Amino acid sequence: MKDQDIKEVIKDRYGKIARGEQTFCCPSCGPTVTDQCLAVGYTAEDLQLVPELAVLGVGCGNPTALADLTEGETVLDLGAGAGIDVFLAAKKVGQNGRVIGVDMTEDMVARGRQLAQEYGFGNVEFRLGYIEHLPVDSATVDVVISNCVINLTPDKLASFTEVRRVLKAGGRILIADLVTAGELPPDVRASAAAWADCLAGAMAKEAYLETIRSAGFAEVTVVSESPYEAPGMDARLQGKILSVKVRAFKR
Ligand SMILES: C[S@@+](CC[C@H](N)C(=O)[O-])C[C@H]1O[C@@H](n2cnc3c(N)ncnc32)[C@H](O)[C@@H]1O
Repeated sequence: MKDQDIKEVIKDRYGKIARGEQTFCCPSCGPTVTDQCLAVGYTAEDLQLVPELAVLGVGCGNPTALADLTEGETVLDLGAGAGIDVFLAAKKVGQNGRVIGVDMTEDMVARGRQLAQEYGFGNVEFRLGYIEHLPVDSATVDVVISNCVINLTPDKLASFTEVRRVLKAGGRILIADLVTAGELPPDVRASAAAWADCLAGAMAKEAYLETIRSAGFAEVTVVSESPYEAPGMDARLQGKILSVKVRAFKR
């Protein structure tokens, strides 16, 4: 499949989720959106801090819980969706900080913007764009977070290279993502639906970490790792999908 075709399938899937026409994207760990969020590491308090419509249950971690965000920092969320992590980050960086969410799906950006306005989040901004060509100035960001998104791009090196460009010297990343342990069946790799489910585009764990190093990052560390399994997931994938949370620095 061509890269542009993959993007169109992904935009279609997440557009439907943003408009409320579908619920889950990535295979769910539980029967409800809340269960899905709790299963990947959010707490019940986290979910109360953000607008309900920002919670889609499509992440594979809780990046702001591990990013050590502090008052006044500028944060960028790659593939922000409806903004669950943008709003959590906004609470942590406060009024002197700023959070930018970037997403390629128009209806996601629209939903994030509407929620920000409705709930009075003055320190957040949602921008339409690709993570491979970030609509963000160079060396302006302290921390880049992301939740279950980089697996969706066919060009992961371009994304991490862009992330390095927009980070200030000394800046850091805290990325939650799906990676693989072992070969995935070729028909899964070739499936558009499996791309949109965050599975077909997942890279082997070591290759993923090496891609981050190749983009120029230092101290690339897996902060936590757990098997990613979901009811209804193809039995051939059991034990082969991992949720990793990776920290690294621009030195
Ligand atoms: C699995 S959802 C995660 C959304 C959000 N991070 C969350 O946890 O709720 C993936 C999101 O990434 C966006 N996305 C996928 N590929 C992208 C790309 N290349 N550039 C920008 N956004 C992308 C999709 O539109 C979708 O909103």
